[in-house]
Amino acid sequence: MSNNVVLSRRALLGGIAVSLGSAAIDQTAVAKTPTDHRLVAEPGQLGIAQTPQGDLKLPVWGYSGKVPGPLLRFQQGDSANIFLLNRLSEATSIHWHGLRLPNNMDGVPGLTQSDVAPGSEFKYVLPFKDAGTYWYHTHSRAWNQQDRGLYGVIVVDEKEPPKVDRDIILVIDDWLIDRQGKFDERRLGNMHDWAHAGRLGNLVTVNSEFRPNILIGRGERVRLRLVNVANSNIFGLKFEGHDPWIIAEDGDPVSPRKADGGVVILGPGQRADVVIDGNAKSDLHKIVARSMTGQSVLASLKYVAARNPLKGLAGTQVTKLAANPRPILDLTNARRLTLNMEGGAMGGLRQAKLNGKMRSWMELASKSRVWAFNGIAGDMAEPMATLKRGETVILKIQNNTGWPHAMHLHGMHFQEIKRNGSSVGNRSWRDSVLLNRRETVEVAFVAEEAGKWMLHCHMIEHQAGGMMTWLDIK
Ligand code: C2O
Ligand code: CU
Repeated sequence: MSNNVVLSRRALLGGIAVSLGSAAIDQTAVAKTPTDHRLVAEPGQLGIAQTPQGDLKLPVWGYSGKVPGPLLRFQQGDSANIFLLNRLSEATSIHWHGLRLPNNMDGVPGLTQSDVAPGSEFKYVLPFKDAGTYWYHTHSRAWNQQDRGLYGVIVVDEKEPPKVDRDIILVIDDWLIDRQGKFDERRLGNMHDWAHAGRLGNLVTVNSEFRPNILIGRGERVRLRLVNVANSNIFGLKFEGHDPWIIAEDGDPVSPRKADGGVVILGPGQRADVVIDGNAKSDLHKIVARSMTGQSVLASLKYVAARNPLKGLAGTQVTKLAANPRPILDLTNARRLTLNMEGGAMGGLRQAKLNGKMRSWMELASKSRVWAFNGIAGDMAEPMATLKRGETVILKIQNNTGWPHAMHLHGMHFQEIKRNGSSVGNRSWRDSVLLNRRETVEVAFVAEEAGKWMLHCHMIEHQAGGMMTWLDIK
């Protein structure tokens, strides 16, 4: 066993890639991750079977031989030391998306830590304050690194486990395959993509498989943890024959409710935990995804015999998960901030500041900055605002562009309180919010933890193209 590891390391150093496998999707019986755990960022080959382009071997970058990377599973209240070892040829980092943690563990090179150079290691000390479904991914040239597979899932178990028979993770990604049937490397960084919807793939996978059968037991109640790790695509998921209950969004419990029209919508970076019962008539049901590139079958739910004696949950009321600790929003005395999202194709952005200087659209485009926040095209030298620790903030986000965006705040969760001027009823605590073109949302949060916290569009090409800033909490 250990011999193998040594061999593959040596092989890697010699430039021969290891073969990357995909992660197990059924995590019902998966053990907790040890408190000390190493993730090795490394190149490899990922096999995807029986796609329209034939069997594909994608040249990917993954963590410890896997895409998605190893599942990190802990219990609420645990903490862990995760060592990132960089075996790539460029600098990297890991951001723990959705976790509330000390700022110096947030994984943003240049802002909260320095680059993890090739060959070096970085120790992340992580607390798991909230139960739920989270994920981790590179925060270094993510438009390249994340697209190649540097991401994985974090499950933080509730102290009191919810009543389900099975617990399944579905990680959704899209890959761009070129006309030769190869991973489209040349189009990474393509400015047309950056100024439009971002890099959208033409092959959608679930846990790195093309149209897998997701096995569930007849009569079982199943928790599905849906994670959208695509660079920029939005997915609307429909589960034929089933009417999913949403029980958590971005990791945080919500009062169980049926998905609107049976469709669960996930912007890049977003998660949803849903409950379905295996009591439909037939044994095979498609999961259909509508995305920005059209509609396709994502996977199938396939009924098998129940694995354990049924708990008799199917068809009963879905109960709410225990709430995570959340601060109290003092909306009446809240500090107000406004963020105007600007630019992109047909956005009419004439000029914006870059490196402190006003620049024309042409000049910005030549520097790959085609989006802006409040007239600034992604300068990271200054924060958007300086906040006092503990204060409540209402952040108004105006999407003045012709494209949808998924805005993500690091280190804190917010409540969406208004959309297009109307008060929002279901206020869940999220870390990412989806805005359609020309929409305005107001989100409220408490500036909980001191530090430099990024605020950016999670459509990675938009982020890299200028849709990024940060909040300084003192
Ligand atoms: Cu999941 Cu700054 O990102
Ligand atoms: Cu965007």
